[in-house]
Amino acid sequence: MNSDKHMGNLAAEREWLRPISRDPHSTNPTSVDTHNSDSDRTSVLFVCLGNICRSPLAEGIFDHLVHEAGLDERFDIDSAGTGAWHVGERPDARAAMVATKQGVELDSRARQITDDDLDRFDYVIVMDHENLRNVRRMADASDSDVEVHLLREFDEEEGDEVPDPYYGGASGFETVYEMLHRSCQTLLERLKAA
Ligand code: 4NP
Repeated sequence: MNSDKHMGNLAAEREWLRPISRDPHSTNPTSVDTHNSDSDRTSVLFVCLGNICRSPLAEGIFDHLVHEAGLDERFDIDSAGTGAWHVGERPDARAAMVATKQGVELDSRARQITDDDLDRFDYVIVMDHENLRNVRRMADASDSDVEVHLLREFDEEEGDEVPDPYYGGASGFETVYEMLHRSCQTLLERLKAA
């Protein structure tokens, strides 16, 4: 395992996907380098805790943006949860409702992330720091070379985590949708330029 990628990747052979810079004096990078993948396709796995609210929404939004951009052939997109409580379930009804309002289809069924995912996917994009810790622990244990990021590293608006909307009301899902949409737009721009 190359631990550099967890510390800003100062010495790694390849550059990692760069987040939006919060430093007003620096220039936002507009591209990413090529990733380790042998394939021409880029694979992205969105991860949250239950895989019924945030990550299925992120998957659906990113898939929608990729489709709109005519890039279906370039991306493999999926989502998973770090927990197993909801395995097999369709997305939460409130997530489905906010997505439908925006013309985004959610067709996933919840599943738990596996070690195999860390070999198969180029990028794992997580919603919060707990997800980040859990995925990195798995990646370290399995000597995976996967690149892991918080989704809101790509949010044009200041932010850190995508908050868990599960125990809140419908308005929380609207807010989460906007965060996910903004962040997925920039993430796609970064990956397209790879
Ligand atoms: P998600 O939300 O991680 O965005 O899918 C949650 C869904 C279910 C639970 C927690 C978070 N739960 O505790 O059951």
